Amino acid sequence: MPEPTTVQNSGLDGAADMAEVDRVIRQRLESNVALIDQIGSYIVGAGGKRIRPRLVLLFARALGFHGAARFELAAIVEFIHTATLLHDDVVDESSMRRGHPTANALFGNAASVLVGDFLYSRAFQMMVSVGSMRVLEVLADATNVIAEGEVLQLINMHDPDTSVEDYLRVIRFKTAKLFEASARLGAVIAQAPAELEEVCADYGRSLGTAFQLVDDLLDYEGDPAQLGKNVGDDLREGKPTLPLLMAMSRGSADERSLLRRAIVNGEVERLRDIVGIVRRTGALDATRAAARAEARKAQACLTRLPPGPAKDALLELCLRSVDRSS
Ligand code: IPE
Ligand code: IPE
Ligand code: MG
Ligand code: MG
Repeated sequence: MPEPTTVQNSGLDGAADMAEVDRVIRQRLESNVALIDQIGSYIVGAGGKRIRPRLVLLFARALGFHGAARFELAAIVEFIHTATLLHDDVVDESSMRRGHPTANALFGNAASVLVGDFLYSRAFQMMVSVGSMRVLEVLADATNVIAEGEVLQLINMHDPDTSVEDYLRVIRFKTAKLFEASARLGAVIAQAPAELEEVCADYGRSLGTAFQLVDDLLDYEGDPAQLGKNVGDDLREGKPTLPLLMAMSRGSADERSLLRRAIVNGEVERLRDIVGIVRRTGALDATRAAARAEARKAQACLTRLPPGPAKDALLELCLRSVDRSS
């Protein structure tokens, strides 16, 4: 009897694999506490691009691992990501995510933080079930670094003297680290040699850095309808991201003092003027160029992988991470 089409296609586009990840996510989300179920299903049901689980699956596949543990690991990294989003939207006071009101807007800050904690701890239960100390180590380190990144970012908030190095450190910690861990885990379960594992981790780190650079760019020039989140949130919060830092270093003295004030006070009502300065000084193009350079670094790592559909998909991710609008 022929296998269902989705399974037949799995080697080509990975759609069946992602459907399996989705099934594991929904199954592991279950809790007898109704509010956890409600909020968990709400944010997971809204979708998301599912990039991090894709990294796990693609690296595992590229390196020849086809066991079921890959679905568990893919679901784990998506749970950790979702927990950080629930917490991040509280900290950032954001009102839109994945095209819907944020969980904090709908259910309140306390419920969002607590359900984020539930997802974190569920992810750790799932890690234990995988039964690998190395997996635990990678993910424990990653979640710890993400938390450090969020706190470092908090310290930089409203500080116009934040350096580009400070900023890069924040994005490597808060975002690139989970990309790195996801790629690394694909190599870990495939039992790749240590040196190849590092190449996969490097890919993840560079792709994650490119990804956050573009996220910060889109906060100035993105379309909320496509992004599924509001633009201008970073400015409102006085978040010194690369577009603002670049514009400050390139603008006139007057422009610089307007931008400094915007970081200190979060002057979102001047968003149009500020976007004008950011554009005129070439800061958005420079941010995209920085993202492109990181994506190229990621791409270069792929030369070490055997050819095949998984490698092609990883290459495609490098290109899309820079030119995306959502
Ligand atoms: C959002 O990540 C947070 C950042 C690191 C910029 P994603 O853009 O991957 O969010 P979803 O999962 O697709 O919604
Ligand atoms: C990413 O930073 C936050 C996490 C890594 C959780 P942002 O604050 O820019 O992410 P968005 O724009 O809210 O998705
Ligand atoms: Mg945010
Ligand atoms: Mg953002």
